[in-house]
Amino acid sequence: MTVYLIGFMGSGKSYLGRLLSNHLGVDHIDLDEWIESKYGKSITEIFQSEGEDRFREKEHEALKSLYEAYSRSVNLSIPSTELNLIISCGGGTPCFNGNMEWMNQHGLTIWLDPPTHVLLERLAKEKAHRPLLAKLSDDQMKHFVEQKLKERSFFYNQARLVLHDEVWDLPGLLKQINDASHLQ
Ligand code: S3P
Repeated sequence: MTVYLIGFMGSGKSYLGRLLSNHLGVDHIDLDEWIESKYGKSITEIFQSEGEDRFREKEHEALKSLYEAYSRSVNLSIPSTELNLIISCGGGTPCFNGNMEWMNQHGLTIWLDPPTHVLLERLAKEKAHRPLLAKLSDDQMKHFVEQKLKERSFFYNQARLVLHDEVWDLPGLLKQINDASHLQ
């Protein structure tokens, strides 16, 4: 089974993915990093030189090709509750090209949904390398984040498991993942 970590920028998808991977000894892939290394360009460069639509196509292709590659090596296509792979998605991944529905059909989706003020505090410190935020003032960013969260909640809400915490209790979280995987 693949776990897909989804949620807004700054929600902790990459951090939690690495934490779970280290703890469980399961492979972890950060979708943005995978795209950057496949195309030899940063996400910002892809946005700038090819535009967001092309980035979304790359993101969609990456999801599918990773699944196919892993299916061959660990037989992900056999329904199993055993966790084989953790993918930390980009913040927009679930909201384009049918990705949310596809992820729900191919694994367990987990929405990391900390309070908005926590997202804003984290993003204020690191917006420079995020193409959607880099040019915004703090006020504009607040408006942008609130607006985007409203638009995206339709997709994020389709996740099978939702975590509202900003810090995680690992044993409790592993139990929640285990329970949710058996309900799939
Ligand atoms: C995006 C989030 C980013 C990255 C790209 C677009 C978004 O990922 O995929 O900049 O649309 O929210 P992170 O959520 O990992 O920062």
